[in-house]
Amino acid sequence: MTDTVTREFGTVGVIGLGTMGAGITEVFARNGHRVIGVEVNDAGVERGRQHLEHSTGRAVKREKMTEAEQAELLGRITLTTDMRDLAEADLVVEAVVESLEVKKAIFRTLDDIVRPDAVLATNTSSLSVTEISTANSSPGRVVGVHFFNPAPVQDLVEIIRTVVTEPDVLADVQGLLVALGKNPVVCGDKAGFIANTLLFGYLNHAVSMYEGKYASREDIDAAMRFGCGYPMGPLALLDLIGLDTAYEILDTMYKQGRDRLHAPAPILKQYVTAGLLGRKSGRGFYTYETPDSPVVV
Ligand code: 3HC
Repeated sequence: MTDTVTREFGTVGVIGLGTMGAGITEVFARNGHRVIGVEVNDAGVERGRQHLEHSTGRAVKREKMTEAEQAELLGRITLTTDMRDLAEADLVVEAVVESLEVKKAIFRTLDDIVRPDAVLATNTSSLSVTEISTANSSPGRVVGVHFFNPAPVQDLVEIIRTVVTEPDVLADVQGLLVALGKNPVVCGDKAGFIANTLLFGYLNHAVSMYEGKYASREDIDAAMRFGCGYPMGPLALLDLIGLDTAYEILDTMYKQGRDRLHAPAPILKQYVTAGLLGRKSGRGFYTYETPDSPVVV
């Protein structure tokens, strides 16, 4: 990594305040950045606000943060439904639904809003960063920054460089992530990047094992927790990631790489169709009273 960081990223815009977007907003605000969070409607803004209050409230309860520090942190965040509020952003991180069309429309719109020297990043987990970047008139200022869930906790961030990402943009984003206390790694633009390519073959295999009634969900998860030291078993982790997100990631990777390890296990699609999306919907492989609560059954 180079130590010649040239840009200041005082104000950061985050588009999309779902699980990942709200988590990313918290990461920047915790580190003193001013954050402008954008959602598509008032309900989205409210959901983002609740996520931020809940997550920082947990830190207060655990005595990792005082109430005054929480108020200061939240005070650095402005939530809005107007993308034009991003005019003063030094960096914009897009974290909306995994749809190429939606993401491209956002990068196109940003052309008319942000300064020409602002850096644009997408938190896509499997779509082509190159394709997203070409929707903007300056694709050289676009990078992938792939945070992991929960974003305030996981240290890894993958930085995805395209064939046209400018080297100084890459270096500055690397420097910024290190300053945030993250561990950035850099890779090229291939569906799944480094971690999801390796992780999702394993997760998908666990679903197939469960689907084939080879072992119970508890035993599959226990095997990896107690045998391999993973913090969560694969089925509990899928519930945390969201089964819809997991399905999309596997499907994209399979279509690009045709590696049968990534052909989504059929039951995954059935769960998604039935609305069993994991923690966020209250039920996935396990059942939960709230997105944060322990497993109920
Ligand atoms: N948001 C913010 N903070 C959270 C959190 C959340 N959703 N969940 C837990 N935390 C914090 C807690 O406040 C606590 O903080 P502290 O140490 O400062 O007190 C810390 O994390 C530990 O939490 P807990 O004691 O409640 O629980 P655990 O020790 O069991 O940890 C876990 C929970 C961090 C989720 C841990 O089980 C874990 O790391 N699991 C694996 C997660 C993982 O693999 N993520 C990657 C998924 S793949 C991905 O994101 C890619 C994408 O493209 C799909």
